[in-house]
Amino acid sequence: MSLPLLEIADLHVRFPIRSGILRRETGQVRAVSGVSLKIARGEALGLVGESGCGKTTLARAALQLQPASEGEILFDGRHIKTRHDRSAFRRRVQAIFQDPFSSLNPRMTAGDIVGEPIRVHRLRPRREVKKRVAELMDLCGLPARFMELYPHEMSGGQRQRIGIARALAMEPELIVCDEAVSALDVSVQAQVINLLAELRRELGLTYLFIGHDLSVVRYLCDRVAVMYLGRVVEQGPSDALFADPQHPYTRALIDAAPEPDPELARAHEVIPLQGEAPSPAAPPPGCAFHPRCPIAVARCSQEIPALAPVGAGHGAACWLARSSTGGTGQHDGKPVDLSPNPAQVRQEMHR
Ligand SMILES: Nc1ncnc2c1ncn2[C@@H]1O[C@H](COP(=O)(O)OP(=O)(O)O)[C@@H](O)[C@H]1O
Ligand code: SF4
Ligand SMILES: [Mg+2]
Repeated sequence: MSLPLLEIADLHVRFPIRSGILRRETGQVRAVSGVSLKIARGEALGLVGESGCGKTTLARAALQLQPASEGEILFDGRHIKTRHDRSAFRRRVQAIFQDPFSSLNPRMTAGDIVGEPIRVHRLRPRREVKKRVAELMDLCGLPARFMELYPHEMSGGQRQRIGIARALAMEPELIVCDEAVSALDVSVQAQVINLLAELRRELGLTYLFIGHDLSVVRYLCDRVAVMYLGRVVEQGPSDALFADPQHPYTRALIDAAPEPDPELARAHEVIPLQGEAPSPAAPPPGCAFHPRCPIAVARCSQEIPALAPVGAGHGAACWLARSSTGGTGQHDGKPVDLSPNPAQVRQEMHR
């Protein structure tokens, strides 16, 4: 595989739990426990999982906004160590968060919001900033008259377009979208998602796309990683993962997603996801999913299953998942190659 644009290797993020008047550390929240991911240039990787499973913490660590307790993050093959690395990284990687209203300065016009990074980083000569802002807004489907509007004068979808235009002003290579469309109405969501897909094609962008709506992730992403209680429990090409999920948790998530076709919905036998996810401050022993798993066996509560191959570029961390080597349901512990397939990525980019 060619060099991944972003590589996360065995990342752990733990938050201390403090109590008593001395604020002594009495425990830890294991928000991310040993996650490894690679994203190829031009690829869109989706990250899904229930609320609290560590998606935002992982994204913040990838964005260098949250220090890692252990593990490595490489961007374009390099560690981010020096101030120079950090400032280059801040230009090349941009984030789009859920609530565009809270992230946009209410006292600035849309034109100033989009133009600010261009001015601060001197990306264009002063006299060209306005033209560039108009260009970026046009790219995001907003007419030039929006330049004069304040955030409260715009709809949620328009504000998210401003957020995207501002991120694009830096000419980034990687965009991290954390629930970027989750707060929008369904019809507006679809428009913003189409915009993200178009921008990716036109600008050759790479996405780490976090979302809880599986149909959105499926539409937008080449590969998907499913997180449960701080770990990636399944990862693979979107088509394979959705058509043939191997981890019971992935199956439950897909089953829980609303089926738009009522005929199919009736025919579909749903395995409900029972109970709530346990706390990452006290994860269950063995496979953390075992208290909720409909097919758990004795081994599940004792040993943690590693991500093992179940198909081409497809891995699952379950003692009972199909093994690509024989189907005994017991994998051999060999590491699974989950590298993106460059040919497929190129195809996606030019689709
Ligand atoms: N700054 C923090 N301090 C302590 N615990 C945190 C902090 N940020 C997140 N957590 C905890 O880490 C876990 C993962 O949270 P988060 O990454 O926000 O999950 P998600 O984005 O998947 O909903 C949760 O249990 C959350 O309460
Ligand atoms: S390892 Fe066991 S408990 Fe965990 S998902 Fe697989 S069958 Fe269920
Ligand atoms: Mg989150």
